Amino acid sequence: MEIITDIEKWREYARSERSEGKSIGLVPTMGALHAGHVSLIEAAREHCDVVIVTIFVNPRQFTTSKDLKAYPRTPERDRELARAAGATCVVEPRLEQMWPDFPLTTATTVSVRGLSDNFEGADRPGHFDGVASVVAKLFTITGPCTAFFGEKDFQQLCVIRQLVRDLSFDVKLVGCPIVRDVDGLALSSRNVLLSANDRVRARVLSQVLLSLDDDQTRSASELRDSLLSQLRNANIDLSYADVVNPLTLLPLSDDDQGVGRLLLAATFSGVRLLDNAEVRVVAKEQARAASH
Ligand code: PAF
Repeated sequence: MEIITDIEKWREYARSERSEGKSIGLVPTMGALHAGHVSLIEAAREHCDVVIVTIFVNPRQFTTSKDLKAYPRTPERDRELARAAGATCVVEPRLEQMWPDFPLTTATTVSVRGLSDNFEGADRPGHFDGVASVVAKLFTITGPCTAFFGEKDFQQLCVIRQLVRDLSFDVKLVGCPIVRDVDGLALSSRNVLLSANDRVRARVLSQVLLSLDDDQTRSASELRDSLLSQLRNANIDLSYADVVNPLTLLPLSDDDQGVGRLLLAATFSGVRLLDNAEVRVVAKEQARAASH
């Protein structure tokens, strides 16, 4: 497995592999790899001849310097996990090449309006501009590829899908299912920052989501009410919880039916956790008829 830190070498690596007719898989990460990342690398390995894993803790997507500083970093372990999962190359780009003006403001920003505005975007102003800007740069350097992202960051996936569409990147996106710990907690690099007590308390997030993933026919407002009341009873620091259209992320109404997405975020002693799940939604009239 190659380890590259220079942007031009990375560009050349991808170009030369492509010139031999090989397909390129890209797995963008911020390191602190866990089984969720491993599942992305394995999926990339399955679909592509070459797998590039990028590890870059992108300062532009953090809202506070405290959060950036606290973000876990495990470089040696990351390389080992990437190698074992089938990566052919790990790219650890240098900050001065990624954002040459940092810590001053970078003049160029990619902003995906609308999808970036609510939920995570509302709570963390500028977060998705940082994500869209860095992902645009990763795509530009790598060139034509298939890129793998986890559904755990569901809003991020929607933002990136729009980015690819609007800027015509030659990139095929693959969203991979959330990987959960045995107790249901969605895997996240931030989980290691939880205290033992908060780790137990955080289980409620997946428990509530999975409790709504049953065969019952519920309308959007019934789902929203149940989601919110269960989470409020759990007495946690909830940032948001909603049932939304999985493409537009607009809250669903009682006329909507089909597939929806439950989205939530909560903070445990300063550690922000996100989770989401697909859900079946029926129109209110139908839900009422089914309950009689
Ligand atoms: O999901 C992440 O790890 C990051 O937001 C990403 C996509 C690698 C951009 O820095």
